[in-house]
Amino acid sequence: MVFMKIRKSTEKDFAGMMEVAKRLYPTWFDKTAINESMPVDLKIHKGYIAEEDGKIVGFITYTSDKGKIEISWIGIDPNYQRRGIGSKLLKRLESGLRQIGVKELRVKTVAESTIYKPYDQTRAFYRKMGFEVEKVEKVWSKDTGKEFDLATFVKKL
Ligand SMILES: CC(C)(COP(=O)(O)OP(=O)(O)OC[C@H]1O[C@@H](n2cnc3c(N)ncnc32)[C@H](O)[C@@H]1OP(=O)(O)O)[C@@H](O)C(=O)NCCC(=O)NCCS
Repeated sequence: MVFMKIRKSTEKDFAGMMEVAKRLYPTWFDKTAINESMPVDLKIHKGYIAEEDGKIVGFITYTSDKGKIEISWIGIDPNYQRRGIGSKLLKRLESGLRQIGVKELRVKTVAESTIYKPYDQTRAFYRKMGFEVEKVEKVWSKDTGKEFDLATFVKKL
């Protein structure tokens, strides 16, 4: 029987989280994310992982900056997407945040004005989970050497 478990991540989960991240390369996570950002962030940021039969199939991590909480990374193995795992991870994070009195949660992602199909599902996911666009800004991508529109989504908890 398949058994899915959500739990807080520990430093021992780093390799398993990185494996999931690499399966999302290059469609969602670029070279800079895989080689530079995630190897550090996934060791330092707190978060939760989803395990199916003992194997990590998804993760969510977050940061706190002077009381403002932002999702840093979320990723579900492509073979396990659209099964409610992302929703479960996010709900677990939200309930943990509510317990300590956090009122808002933010996440940054590729904006609708940047035409790139894979991120349609990412924005569909955040909207379904109750996030709304707060602002859109131009940022520079080290990978492409070009500017793109980055949206900040916010949800009231
Ligand atoms: C975004 C992501 C984390 C969602 O995780 P998931 O486990 O696949 O999502 P869920 O199954 O919990 O989906 C919840 C809802 O989100 C929406 N959604 C999710 N995937 C969708 C898709 N491919 N198309 C349209 N809507 C989608 C739906 O409303 C869905 O509810 P429903 O299945 O009842 O219709 C996952 O797609 C992913 O890992 N994407 C690649 C990495 C990424 O984009 N990270 C974020 C970078 S900012």
